[in-house]
This record gives sequence, C-alpha cells and structure tokens, in this order.
Amino acid sequence: MLRLAVFASGFGSNLEAIYQSIASGALHGVELALVISNNSVSGALAFAREKGIPGRHLSLVRSGNDAHKLESEMLEVLHDARIDIIALAGFMKKLPEALLDRYQERIINIHPALLPEFGGNGMYGLNVHNAVIASGRKISGATVHMVEGEYDSGKIILQESCPVFEKDTPKLLSERVKEIEHRLLPEAIQIMADKITKSR
Ligand code: GRF
Repeated sequence: MLRLAVFASGFGSNLEAIYQSIASGALHGVELALVISNNSVSGALAFAREKGIPGRHLSLVRSGNDAHKLESEMLEVLHDARIDIIALAGFMKKLPEALLDRYQERIINIHPALLPEFGGNGMYGLNVHNAVIASGRKISGATVHMVEGEYDSGKIILQESCPVFEKDTPKLLSERVKEIEHRLLPEAIQIMADKITKSR
C-alpha cells in the first residue's frame, strides 16, 4: 500500500473524489493517509475530520511567517505519516523546494484547463475559466501533471477536454470541468502509484 497525502486549500471536492475512488476500489494499492491544508476552515480539512483521516493545518502565518519553519514542519509531518506520494487537489501555495526534492516524481497536480495553455502564475480558480471564456476558445478541460517547481509545469499524465458553450459563465464552465477532474485525478494517482509499485 502506498500512503497518499492530499494537499488542498478549498472546498475539497477532488479530495472527496479520491476518497470515493478508494472506497469503491476503483483506486487501489493506495491509502489516503493525510490531508494538509493552508486554510484552517477549508472544506478539505472538515471532510478529513468527518472521515477520520488525519488532517493538518500548515501555513506560513501559522509558522510565524518563517518559510524555513514551514518547510521543516511540512517535511516532518509527511515523514511521520510515512507518505509515499502526494496529490495537489486545489492547493493554492507553492511547495517548498526541499519538499519537491524529497518527493521527486511523486507529486501530481490537477489543473482546470488544457495545459500548457491557461496555466502559470495567477491562473487558479475562476480566473482560469474567465480567461478561457475571454479567449473565445471552444474547448477546455482538465490536466493532471507531475509537479516540478514552476507553476503548472511538469510532464502531463492525463488530459481530457469538454466543450465551452456560447452562454457559459466561469462558474458553469468550472462545474463541467470539475466533473472531469473528479475522474481524472484518481486515475492519474493510480498511474503514478502503479509505476512506483512496479519499480520497487
Ligand atoms: C479545482 O478546480 C482544481 O483543478 C484547482 O482547484 C480546484 C479545487 O477544487 N487546482 P476542489 O477544492 O477540489 O473542489
């Protein structure tokens, strides 16, 4: 069993999708061992509490605005929970370098657009869907990719598209894309987990 940590800042619907995939057996060989959030009142931490999954609130403010302290706390929490792989499911903060080093090839992120377009700094939440609609694109979707330092860069693992309609609002488009995300993220976790298990 590989031990998975999910990092989430917000509502946590992708976290829930991962939880359900494991519960149904669709995602296997993976245990949801830890939820980390920079937001103490996130839906993700509430969901973790409800399901009895260990959850931790870790943030720069909580660490006294000391980035080194936050970095050590993150590494320690992950180490103590014996985490093998990490999924970023709407995590709004950049990960510390040391964490990226320690978990090379073991961190994935879900992005609500078809990367490499509509990614990078500032491209999060409804900003992404706003930008897609403003561009006049007729197709959007979701991407899961490996995390390698820069925002929304790294090898693409899975991508799926959906239409953008004339009358779409950012909210409507985000709902359509989220349906894809909820399938894609557990599938990508399975792909990464299988690869790691095979190489052991
Ligand atoms: C998702 O759209 C994800 O792609 C983005 O942040 C959002 C998180 O949604 N990175 P939720 O908290 O999982 O509902």
